Amino acid sequence: MKLFIDTGSVAEVEEIARWGVLAGATTNPSLLAKEQGDPGDIIRRIAELVDGPTSAEVVSDDADGMVSEGIALAGIDPRVVVKVPFSAAGLEATSRLHALGHKVNMTLVFSAPQAILAAEAGATYISAFLGRLDDIGMDSVDSLREIVEAVADNSTGAQVLAASIRNPIHATVSATLGADVATIPGKVLRQMLNHPLTTSGIETFTADWKTRPEFADWLKGLVAANEA
Ligand code: E4P
Repeated sequence: MKLFIDTGSVAEVEEIARWGVLAGATTNPSLLAKEQGDPGDIIRRIAELVDGPTSAEVVSDDADGMVSEGIALAGIDPRVVVKVPFSAAGLEATSRLHALGHKVNMTLVFSAPQAILAAEAGATYISAFLGRLDDIGMDSVDSLREIVEAVADNSTGAQVLAASIRNPIHATVSATLGADVATIPGKVLRQMLNHPLTTSGIETFTADWKTRPEFADWLKGLVAANEA
């Protein structure tokens, strides 16, 4: 499963892109509305940092408006993927943008029937939301499982992108159910780093090494010789 970062924060992408785990990014109007600065500059910089597909979302509610905004957003950077909300107009816009050669991330998909329509309209990515289903007491795991199964056999090549990820368990479930991509907020990516046994293991290794002070000089010498 590929990992995208779900954010509008350039600083967050600068921090996490260094880990070498990011294959792309997603933004949305709510995430960008929290940030200072020109949204186009933010989207371009995020695309440069992740050097991969970077979703930028249209806000019109009619197909003509979505197509015009999508073409304009795609002009920001060749890595921009046009994010289109699911609706009848969104399907039309997706189909038209696809015909023009633009990649589309169809967003706000919550069910297998919606995913089937999105795939057939030509979406490259189908954003299947988890957290927002949990919020209303519905089973996000069942929904994602159905969407993955429904899209797996289609001939369109559409990829399931698990979205609305709120915790590391959502990320794990997305991978085990066979999502192609998960887009994950920085906060959750940082939570995924943590395990108490990793922390205590590092502390023990460090403490044990320090019981042999001469080892520090040995390692320093080894590094210097290697870099000379
Ligand atoms: C990403 O593409 C979605 O817009 C995002 O994951 C939504 O997450 P939320 O439901 O936590 O706002």
